Amino acid sequence: MPTIFDELLERFQAYLAGVDNDLVADKVARIGWDMPARSLEPRALGCLRYLDRLAELAPSSAKPLTRLVADHRDELRWGQTYTAADFGQSFIDNYGWLEVFGTRGHFVNEEVAAGLLILGSNIVYPDHHHIAEEIYIPLTGGTEWRMGEGGFHVRDAGEVIHHASNVSHAMRTGKEPLMALYLWRGGPLAQKSTIGSMVNLRGKS
Ligand SMILES: [Fe+2]
Repeated sequence: MPTIFDELLERFQAYLAGVDNDLVADKVARIGWDMPARSLEPRALGCLRYLDRLAELAPSSAKPLTRLVADHRDELRWGQTYTAADFGQSFIDNYGWLEVFGTRGHFVNEEVAAGLLILGSNIVYPDHHHIAEEIYIPLTGGTEWRMGEGGFHVRDAGEVIHHASNVSHAMRTGKEPLMALYLWRGGPLAQKSTIGSMVNLRGKS
């Protein structure tokens, strides 16, 4: 009998299979979906209070995945990479992720990490970057996203956002929370992001 985790992986894959985007299709085709399960202790976080609203906001294509996660939140291992010292306590109370597969997720994959990110309403996730290449697909709309030195742009649910290795990015939610699917490939897959834009690191601004 399939477990809740099998169902999670299946719905995750099914959602991605429905995304009409060449870059995503290419990445997804290279994922070996027959992954061994990893037994993890459940861990809850404050940001889980947004899950029902997120499942409501998600378009029909993302409902099966967001609903499953909301209904089984207590069986899943939610994580945080940052601490209050990074972006403050309010951020910590409104942020978390679920690694579906990767080096520490519910399924073992040493090449790709993927999961779901939650940000509560009215939260700023400041500029950060990492070695891994990243694809984000917001499952709910209305959040403003920024990449490199560009401005913030509102992204709809289902848009594909590609961050090349070490390109800084930031997000800003409005009155609604955000759930976004992420895929990481290349570089250390459990690495904490470096905070600050590359511009700042080079000392230009
Ligand atoms: Fe990122």
